[in-house]
Amino acid sequence: MTTPLRIGIAGLGTVGLGVIRMLRDNADLVTSRAGRQIDVVAVSARDAQKNRGVDLSGVSWVTDARDMTERADISAIVEVIGGEGGISLDLAHKSLASGKHLITANKAMLAHHGTSLARLAEHHNVSVLCEAAVAGGIPIIKAFREGLAGNHIRALYGILNGTCNYILTEMRLSDRSFKDVLAEAQTKGYAESDPSFDIDGIDTGHKLCLLSSMAFGVMPQFSHMPITGISHLTPSDIQYAGELGYRIKLLGMAKCHDGKVWQKVMPCLVPSSSTLGNVEGVYNAVFYETDFAGQGMMSGRGAGADPTASAIVSDIIDLAQGKTRPLFGVSVDRLASASMIKPQEISSRFYMHLRVKDQAGVIAEISSILKDHHISIESMIQRGRNPDQAVSVVMITHETNESDMASAYAKMARLSFMASPPTQLMIKDIS
Ligand SMILES: NC(=O)c1ccc[n+]([C@@H]2O[C@H](COP(=O)([O-])OP(=O)(O)OC[C@H]3O[C@@H](n4cnc5c(N)ncnc54)[C@H](OP(=O)(O)O)[C@@H]3O)[C@@H](O)[C@H]2O)c1
Repeated sequence: MTTPLRIGIAGLGTVGLGVIRMLRDNADLVTSRAGRQIDVVAVSARDAQKNRGVDLSGVSWVTDARDMTERADISAIVEVIGGEGGISLDLAHKSLASGKHLITANKAMLAHHGTSLARLAEHHNVSVLCEAAVAGGIPIIKAFREGLAGNHIRALYGILNGTCNYILTEMRLSDRSFKDVLAEAQTKGYAESDPSFDIDGIDTGHKLCLLSSMAFGVMPQFSHMPITGISHLTPSDIQYAGELGYRIKLLGMAKCHDGKVWQKVMPCLVPSSSTLGNVEGVYNAVFYETDFAGQGMMSGRGAGADPTASAIVSDIIDLAQGKTRPLFGVSVDRLASASMIKPQEISSRFYMHLRVKDQAGVIAEISSILKDHHISIESMIQRGRNPDQAVSVVMITHETNESDMASAYAKMARLSFMASPPTQLMIKDIS
């Protein structure tokens, strides 16, 4: 019998405990698929006294997770502590430098330090595996790096954050404000007590950065990614979108054309009848366009103990079988440093929601700004008259470029009759 794969798990929270449970509950299946036994020989977390509801007898407790890297009986470390830097990054460096494979769910760390970690792994002839870092239970990284490996992936559109998708779904179904639904999501455990990474779109950006690097074979580029979250959206935006035949989804979007890349995180209108538009609640999905396989979409649970454990255990099985690949699909020196597609080269239809004081000349001034930026209007909704309150003007533009739209938006936001900042969202007519 082949020797067991001996691993250490750093972090015994939601994901770490999920991994231990899955390795135990499905031990026979995992051993048979891996072709060898998987032994958890060491664990680490902050609080050694905490009752974690799993039997850890026979597993050594390591007070400082980094000490696992010095143990000769461990060949792979599962990092499920979290955080872009700090102990997680230190542990990752030490693991790879000491010749131990690293399995991680830490998208923040990989979005910021993935290139240097991949380089270090190559240098020491070990691997970084991260299926759990993007869309939890959906094996999208495997799909991009293996199943679609012979294709040029042209574009991807992902609903990559379950917290945001839950909030947007509930706002639509119950006609409640963002704040109300966020509070409910926190009570139900779907949102963190500090939800900013999720609702501001940063978490989606981290995942998009990793996915686009793997899809297009380019260096991960997070620092200049334009990111807009969902906290400015109102129930009326969601209703107007619905009247127009759309649902609002926070999308991580990326395209690759002529060796240049476009990446953006932004709430978008997608058709209510589309498959992506019907990915609701905490579910995630990734829609992709390729040259040979055509279009496709994978959806499923993006987070939580069990789906995330499923992704980590699949990485553990790959490792046990000796099936490893470079972190971004190709070695770092073969990743292109792609330049970015300019906003002038990206065109889309846009949704605009302007809340204006009800006075003469408003539409004329707005029209004049749009005309100056070559933006024409496909349809418009203007509701009611009320001199004491702001009224809503909702417009859908014809195809226009991002750059013109951004400067028109900046001018409109400064108009004296604008009661609050306008909402401007891209329309993505994905089937
Ligand atoms: N939760 C999900 O659904 C999900 C999905 C995909 C990816 N992820 C990623 O998975 C990672 C872990 O997430 P999680 O939800 O499992 O986090 P979590 O529940 O907060 O657990 C974090 C664990 O790390 C331990 N820890 C914190 N500081 C430590 C230190 N200095 N040394 C050793 N252990 C330390 C904590 O110890 P104590 O328990 O003693 O406090 C805890 O056990 C993150 O990178 C996250 O982004 C999570």
